[in-house]
Amino acid sequence: MLIQDIILKKRNGGALSTEEIEYFVSSYTNGTIPDYQAAALLMAIWFSRMDARETADLTIAIRDSGSRPDLSVIDGVKLDKHSTGGVADTTTLITAPLVAACGGKVAKISGRGLGHTGGTVDKLESIPGVDLSRTPEDLARIVNECGLAVVGQSGDLVPADRKLYALRDVTGTVDNVSLIASSIMSKKLALGADAIVLDVKTGNGSFMGEETAAEELARMMVEIGRRAGKPTSALITDMNQPLGLAVGNALEVAEAIESLRGDRSGDLADLSLALAAEMLVAGGLAATGAEASRQVREALESGRGLQRLARMIELLGGSPQVCEDTSLLPRAAEEVAVVVERSGFVGDIMTADVGRAAMLLGAGRAAKNDPIDPAVGLKLQVRRGDPVQAGDEIGRLYVNSRANFERAQALLLSSVCISDAPPQKKPLIYRQVRGE
Ligand code: URA
Ligand code: CA
Repeated sequence: MLIQDIILKKRNGGALSTEEIEYFVSSYTNGTIPDYQAAALLMAIWFSRMDARETADLTIAIRDSGSRPDLSVIDGVKLDKHSTGGVADTTTLITAPLVAACGGKVAKISGRGLGHTGGTVDKLESIPGVDLSRTPEDLARIVNECGLAVVGQSGDLVPADRKLYALRDVTGTVDNVSLIASSIMSKKLALGADAIVLDVKTGNGSFMGEETAAEELARMMVEIGRRAGKPTSALITDMNQPLGLAVGNALEVAEAIESLRGDRSGDLADLSLALAAEMLVAGGLAATGAEASRQVREALESGRGLQRLARMIELLGGSPQVCEDTSLLPRAAEEVAVVVERSGFVGDIMTADVGRAAMLLGAGRAAKNDPIDPAVGLKLQVRRGDPVQAGDEIGRLYVNSRANFERAQALLLSSVCISDAPPQKKPLIYRQVRGE
């Protein structure tokens, strides 16, 4: 097989065979195919596109490019959830304990955050004592004990994805539905979940933007799951404002704990419950959506979800007391109010800018090895549609260093659009995409 023939075939609009796709992925991963030929093929894929069969073949080839951890020792139905990335999105820390309390098993290997979206690993490591540098064996053991665990990524789960993603990043080939879908699904499938639920964001803070593009991505990923024999479904959800109110690692953990206590209602709690119910249905642990919702709500109201989170924190070396008293989490030295300058109604909130404001305060990383400050960040106090008066506090910054403080304040203020009329209402969940 010659890579130049494969490039020509795709450039001319042909469909690649399973063998051609496997050859490309394995030879690029082991260094036999150089970057320039891989880049040419990616660009040909970008222009000529791939169909569902090719995309599923690409996903499987990427899934199998590394050594997969053996999580088969976990008893029960393993459920996984993936979000295409949001701001103030702490759903994992709410959804996973609820699913565990309903009898599902959630084993996650998660990355650190980069840029304006925080990673679950960083959030959990803001809890005193928690150490997520764990082996897959530790992960399986903890999941068997409490139903859920998140550990940091060690080693190379899917080396082909790491290499291809880095190349796409510098060759203008990130935004292709088949390349995105195969990248995301290869990582989910490599972990061996029995069923997968996807939260595909649409709106100003999502990288898919338009709802139609988000739906196309969701359909492609659901189809990949079907072809790989893993029930997969997706919710298309709104990202025209941050999902929750807190952005910053310890602040988001506190918000998740308050949500599991039932002290916080709103979009973050609503979506977390919906995703948990969807996971139970996808994994066959509930017969209908209504039955799943009832189970999940019971897990929340009885406090059993919060107990699962506390137990996981303990097994990961942290102090479970944070679940009773969130003031045990790291706290910033200073709180500064951000005040609106004009009266009106809150419209869209530029979610990426809210994330960047928190990052400027030290909550996120601009570069891969930057240190982060677990205590800092911000909390918004308004949602789309809220009426505000000039002088009202719309948010609060949690600050440990005055460096970049003014930029963060200005960015948060400008991220909240104020208009004279109330904005058009937008749903939290636009639609559900399930396999046939
Ligand atoms: N996230 C991924 O993991 N891969 C992509 O290609 C895009 C987003
Ligand atoms: Ca996330």
